[in-house]
Amino acid sequence: MTAAPKGLEGVVAAETEMSFIDGEKGILEYVGIAIDDLARNSSFEETVFLLWNRKLPTKSELAAFSADLRKRYALPGDMKQRISTLPKTAQPMHVLRTMVSMLSLFDPDPNANDAASAREKALNILGYAPTIVAYFDRHRKGLPLIDPDPKLSFAANFLYMLNGEHPTPTMERAFDACMILHADHGLNNSTFTTRVVISTLSDVYSAISAAIGSLRGPLHGGANEGVMKMLNEIPSVGDVRRVVEDKLARKDKIMGFGHRVYKNYDPRATYLKTLAKKLAEDTGNVSLYEKSHAIEQIMEEKVAAKGIYPNVDFYSATTYHCIGLQLDLFTPMFALSRISGWAGHMLEQLEGNRLYRPKAEYTGPHGVAYTAIEKR
Ligand code: ACO
Repeated sequence: MTAAPKGLEGVVAAETEMSFIDGEKGILEYVGIAIDDLARNSSFEETVFLLWNRKLPTKSELAAFSADLRKRYALPGDMKQRISTLPKTAQPMHVLRTMVSMLSLFDPDPNANDAASAREKALNILGYAPTIVAYFDRHRKGLPLIDPDPKLSFAANFLYMLNGEHPTPTMERAFDACMILHADHGLNNSTFTTRVVISTLSDVYSAISAAIGSLRGPLHGGANEGVMKMLNEIPSVGDVRRVVEDKLARKDKIMGFGHRVYKNYDPRATYLKTLAKKLAEDTGNVSLYEKSHAIEQIMEEKVAAKGIYPNVDFYSATTYHCIGLQLDLFTPMFALSRISGWAGHMLEQLEGNRLYRPKAEYTGPHGVAYTAIEKR
């Protein structure tokens, strides 16, 4: 038996009609539409509709879908009270994973995963997740919890619940664009996790909470926090070269660079770079953008020949900081958006399900005699 490539790199393990990636050319499309086009012209709600229905909605379809999502901002049962008793030191990704799992306890039929039920539960989780994150953030800061406002878009409502004031149109638009850019990305690790879990015909809550666990890792969604930590460690733009060269000499990875799939500029980073620059100028964070840009220039000189370019996380760090998000909310932001991609893949998986059950190549010994414990 030939072993599969390490990390299953290059192995086709599912069919999808949602996102297309050409890593060599730096192309990402959702249902055939270039990501840049969507980031500039669509809304997150419309993008979710596109991913779940594989077509753009008409005006009335979009209005109905958005209204349906807005009905699901308010948490069920006593979830709000439960969040307000969580340890304030808990990490938001752990809170999100645990609370998404807890949602199943308030669902009278949590295991139903026929197409209509799975879609319904996915929409619930998509609507509830921002409320979970915002409630917890205010609870840990000792601030009164702000209830969701169903008159607001997904992006505006989240920023309102988090900050207690309505975002400016620029902030709402920037956050909405970030949500679009992070919504889906082929069979990445957390999406694969979703498909693996639902392929046992387990439930939607188990599949999405497992994906949140996968996304938290520093080689996946956790990299945007790593980028911000690195930017904070660099005193000024004049120190960038020394810090980056030291890291490369120690063979440390520079967070926010490199991608298993893209060996060219990540097309999401192209849009985010422009957005980060504008937001940094608007919010007095120009030095942060300048440090990021200087890192990119040095990386271009040192490692671009290996196909290492900024990924989606690199400029999303500056963008999220400028929007006013605390560092440990960066990865939860990724999750709020990616729930849409996970859910879409889950629906696709259920449409033509086959249990994932790969093999492992055994590399241990054979025929070993059992040794009694007192003789070892
Ligand atoms: N900084 C410096 N060098 C790098 C980086 C980096 N960020 N990424 C890869 N390299 C170098 C490696 O050291 C290696 O060099 P070598 O051939 O001289 O040994 C070469 O490029 C290939 O690296 P691999 O680790 O084999 O690349 P792979 O495709 O397996 O890894 C990964 C991709 C895990 C994303 C990696 O680039 C990395 O760890 N990046 C930093 C973390 C990060 O930003 N993750 C976010 C990914 S995007 C996402 O999940 C949304």
